[in-house]
Amino acid sequence: MCEPQPQPQTNPRRFVLLGAPGVGKGTQAELLTAKLGACQLSTGDIFRAAKTLEVGERTPAITAALEYMRKGELVPDETVVALVAERIGCIRCEKGFLLDGFPRTAAQAEELETLLARAGVKLDAVLSYDLPIDKVVARLSGRRTCAGCKAVFHVAARPPKVEGICDQCGGKLYQREDDRPEAIRVRMEAYEKSTSPLADYYRAKGLLISILAEGTPEEIFDRTLQALKPRLA
Ligand code: AP5
Repeated sequence: MCEPQPQPQTNPRRFVLLGAPGVGKGTQAELLTAKLGACQLSTGDIFRAAKTLEVGERTPAITAALEYMRKGELVPDETVVALVAERIGCIRCEKGFLLDGFPRTAAQAEELETLLARAGVKLDAVLSYDLPIDKVVARLSGRRTCAGCKAVFHVAARPPKVEGICDQCGGKLYQREDDRPEAIRVRMEAYEKSTSPLADYYRAKGLLISILAEGTPEEIFDRTLQALKPRLA
């Protein structure tokens, strides 16, 4: 749940973040949230949060979704769309939103259109982060996530001050199950087949902004703000 803003935003921002698994969407979403006040809505994070439910509390759809994730496969469209539709409040939110990991297929992109129309809002832009595959795999393989606050680190590029311990909350850092080499391979295939064609879909709508994801997170963030300048004015 997001924190209520002390004052309504006068100019909410609504973005989709596209890019291969591990390219750094979540890292950029964190920086964008701090700058623009729009909340990150990550379908992957929502599914991972369901892992903390007792087995008896999980619906069959969520149980199946967790198994798809473990293997690196995409969760079926109807499960993902139902999950996002439950969060229509986030789509309508006066702070705006950053969709991270949704949509990921053509069918999900069409469902998003329907949800946006129902909420009476429009996307400002689709930020597409690009990086050669070997560098993406290196980012994924070195990722460590906090079990407590979910902050994301990297063993080489963004190491915590104390190995294995979160700088922000002192929680234990762990490696995601789907960051194992077998699951990474499956995720990359799913991305190439189902998600990368969405770049053309959004380019045709005049919404796509391609951003080179080389360099430090701060450099990429600066590049993002530069690219967004005409739309943030
Ligand atoms: P999800 O959680 O969305 O994973 P993903 O798209 O695979 O993206 P990641 O979270 O792995 O990476 P990221 O791009 O956010 O990178 P990050 O910032 O962490 O989805 C997981 C699974 O859920 C899917 O496989 C699927 O099963 C299911 N799912 C979710 N949504 C779905 C949908 N819509 N439809 C169907 N199924 C769905 O960065 C990665 C690492 O790199 C970190 O260690 C970070 O510190 C480091 N890093 C970041 N930036 C830099 C930099 N500039 N230089 C060096 N290191 C960097």
